[in-house]
Formats: sequence, C-alpha cells, structure tokens
Amino acid sequence: MRIVITEKIAAESVDYLREQGFEVDEKLSLSQEQIEDIMAPYDGLIVRSVTQVNRSLIEKAVNLKVVGRAGNGIDNIDVDACTEKGVIAVNTPEANIMAAGELAVGLAFAAFRNICIANDAARHDDFRRGQMIGNELDSKIAGVIGMGRIGSIVARKLKGIGMKVVVYDPYIPQERFEKLGVKRSNTLDELLTQADLITFHTPKTKETYNMISESELAKCKPGVRIVNAARGGLVNEEALYNALVSGHVASAGIDVFDHEPSYDKKPGEQNYQNKLLSLPNCVVTPHLGASSHEANTNVGTAVTELVASVLKGELVAAINMPAIDGDLSEMKPFVSLAEKLGAIYYQAESSPVSTISITYSGELAKTETDLLTLSVLKGFLSTVTNERISFVNVKQRVADMGVDVVEIKTTHLEKYTSLISVEFCAAEKALSVSGTVFGKDSEILVDFFGYHMDFELSSHVLALQNDDVPGIIGRVGTILGLNKINIATMHWSRKKDKMRAQSFISIDSPVAPEVLEKLSAIEGVLRVSVLDF
Ligand code: 3PG
Repeated sequence: MRIVITEKIAAESVDYLREQGFEVDEKLSLSQEQIEDIMAPYDGLIVRSVTQVNRSLIEKAVNLKVVGRAGNGIDNIDVDACTEKGVIAVNTPEANIMAAGELAVGLAFAAFRNICIANDAARHDDFRRGQMIGNELDSKIAGVIGMGRIGSIVARKLKGIGMKVVVYDPYIPQERFEKLGVKRSNTLDELLTQADLITFHTPKTKETYNMISESELAKCKPGVRIVNAARGGLVNEEALYNALVSGHVASAGIDVFDHEPSYDKKPGEQNYQNKLLSLPNCVVTPHLGASSHEANTNVGTAVTELVASVLKGELVAAINMPAIDGDLSEMKPFVSLAEKLGAIYYQAESSPVSTISITYSGELAKTETDLLTLSVLKGFLSTVTNERISFVNVKQRVADMGVDVVEIKTTHLEKYTSLISVEFCAAEKALSVSGTVFGKDSEILVDFFGYHMDFELSSHVLALQNDDVPGIIGRVGTILGLNKINIATMHWSRKKDKMRAQSFISIDSPVAPEVLEKLSAIEGVLRVSVLDF
C-alpha cells in the first residue's frame, strides 16, 4: 500500500512506515494543485496544517482510505467529504499540546518584555535599554480564550508565573475552572475589558473566525498584549495592525496567519506579504507552536501508527467515527464479531433485506454500541459492493440502499455474558444470526438462521444445510480431503422436527467453485454456502 506525506514529519516515523511494508513518498514542497494531481494511487495521506484536505483533493484521491493529520487542528481537513468517501480521518490531539502551550507563553514573555525588539536592536549596535523597557507579567490579568487541552496548559503556566487568569470558554463545565483554579469569564466582553494579556486557544470555526475585530479591540484595556498561537484569523489581522500602530495594543505575539506562507520555501523564493511583518511591536514566528523536537517525535509516532493501523484494517479512534466507550482492546473482538455476523446474510441468502435489527444483550447493552452497529453494517455491505466502505460512510450507504436499521438493547440474558443478534428482514422471512465472544477473543456463532450451536468463526467457513440422514458428513470430508482442503473444526446442529441439519465446517483455505459444485451435488445436501470473513 502507498502513503504520501506532504509536510515534514520526524524521519524515524517515516522509517517506521517503511519497516511496516508501506511504500512511502515524501512530497514536501508541492503546491496544493500538485498534491491533488498526484493523489490517485495513494491509500494513505499524512499532512500537517498546510495541506488542504478539501473535497477536491478527496475526490481525486480515489484510492484514499485514511488521512492522518500530524497534529491537533483539523480545520484543514474536510471531515464531511472524508466521511462521504469512506476515508477515515485521524489526528494526534495530545502529541504536541505542550509545545503549543509553551510557545504561547514564550510569546507572552516576548510581548511584555520586548525581547525580540531588544534582540534585533542589539544586533544593530543599539543597546539603549531605556527604550526597551517592558512590563512584568506577574500580578497582571491573563485572559485565556478557550480552555481545551492547550488552553488549560497555558492557563496553568500563566498562573504559575503569578498572573491572575481569567478564562472564557462557554463549552467547558464549571468544575474544570474550579479544578484549574482560574476565574470563569461568562462573556467574551467580560474578559476583554479586564485582560492585560489575551491569548487564543480555540480551533478556527465559523464562530471563532475574526472573533476579535475592531469593535472588540476597542473594548480592551489600552496597552493590552495579544498572543495568537492557535489559528490565523481568530483576531482580525487588519484590526490588529491598526491597533498595534496606534499603540492601543502595546504588542503582539503572532505564530499563525490568516493566510499562511509556505514553510518549506527558502528566503527569496517566498513571495509572502503581510502588514503585521512590518511592525516591530509584533513578534512573529512561523507557525512554530508544535515545532519542538519532542512534539515532532510524538506527533510523527502517533500519526504513523494510526495510519498504519487503519491501513492494516485495525480499529482506531478516528475523528469521523463514533467515540469508543471504554477500553478499545476489550471492544475489538466484539467489533470483529459484529462485522462477521453482518457479513453472513448475503453469503447465504439472496432475498433483499429491508430492515436489519440488531439486538445487544447482557453486558454489551450497558455500553455505547454505535461502533458495533457500524461494524454489522460494514460486514453486511462488504459482501455486495466494491465501493469504498468504511466505518465512516457505511451508515449512509446502507440508508441509500433503503435498508432500515434498528438497534435494541436488553440487559436480560441467561446463557451468555453478552450477545449480539442480527435479524435480517426480507419480504418473505426474517433470518437471524447471533454470536458472542468467549475468553479474550474467540468469536462464537451461537445461532444461525434458527440452528443453535457454539461454533468458533474463522476466516473460511462452509455452511451446509442437509437432510438429517447418515453419511453426508463423511462424503463432505472425502471431497474436501481429495481437494487438499484441511478441516479445522466441524459443528452440527439440527432441527429435529424438520429432519434438517446444519453443518459448519471451518477450513484452512478458500473453496474453489468446482469443489462447491461437488459438495452441492451430494445426495441429501440442500444448500452449501461459503462464508468468507
Ligand atoms: C496543530 O494544530 O497541531 C498545530 O497548529 C500544529 O500545526 P503544524 O502541524 O502545522 O505544526
């Protein structure tokens, strides 16, 4: 499988992908158009914050299965477009938060103490320190906008240096503020009117874009300092420029721009214009928040592991998948079982299904089962389509087919701890299959269309329905043996009243069509289904 990386990540992470057997191309200086043009053959894409994983790119990336955002912000990823095309989107929200938080604090120090102005002056033979006098941060009021992972780190650190911290974040519960020991600001205005420092820690959304513009700046204390190491455009650049020129904003530390330059071009190749760059009281860094060696390693490791896992078909926590309740490793066998149960129907039957009814019983009923339902649907569709189907688009595809999905939960269960039952309702009949997990990861089929059993599911299974008469299994074994197909396990179940039996045979290799024909021709065999999982 092929992976393309369009922005620099740690070299050892790229090596890791190659060691895992992936063909990896690093294409670091391409324009957006060039990236879109080369996407078609790739199964995986790894980006940072510059490459725009937009609808146009996703549509050209016809083989894309996963996009890995090496970092936190996902404003450059069109998650809806990914979801529609079945592309799993992953990011690494924890991996660079310390780096980002520390840079914001660093910019605050630079803005208060004129560190960059002084450095620049000294290098130009100007040591007149009387012209570089700044202000102390201690005892001043820091206004932190956004108290997510990074905002919390910044609030904690600013508190640690003696600032009084006021935070505005309408989405965070009161307990978090109390736990951090910071004051809640109920409105943005309340924060603006009292802060000596304003620092942004929100994602860029419709609500937050230009959230501080001319009128908001006018409400700020004269001499306020502004730090933006989150996303360009949270503070309107034109308004900030004017306020820095007038001195209403004493100084600013800006790590991110509304329109960002290329971070790979050499000096002289870059034709980047931004008025803020001309102001000495505006300290500028090139979106350096996440660029610490530690963060690079963390982010690279995290994103490449996630992308590799997705491409190997493993379950990971993704942006466009339902949240996983509890321990992922405990959930995995049930996810795998659910997918197999879903995959049984169209391998054994052909009547079109109108409703899939999934019942979770026992302990499972107490957990979040969205992912299991998606797994059933993924298995169900995987046998009838070549389209890109993944956890992220399967629900929509099943709805497009006109199939209704019903989820039922009941904690009442006698024989097993947990059970998943899937009923496939077609026009004439409803057929159901049920399974559970024994031990750590044995996926057991306990009901197949009304036949009861304890059959451990494997990659290749033969399901035979036959008259309940002697000799059939012997003949089946002979045919499989003659065709060098090894039998792993066999299981029988019967419905005495109907004189019918159902045999399940776990085999080590797939069955060729001619072998299937011979099996179907055995006298008394009514139907043979090959179940490949
Ligand atoms: C992030 O969202 O993770 C930071 O803004 C870092 O962006 P970067 O990956 O481009 O350094």
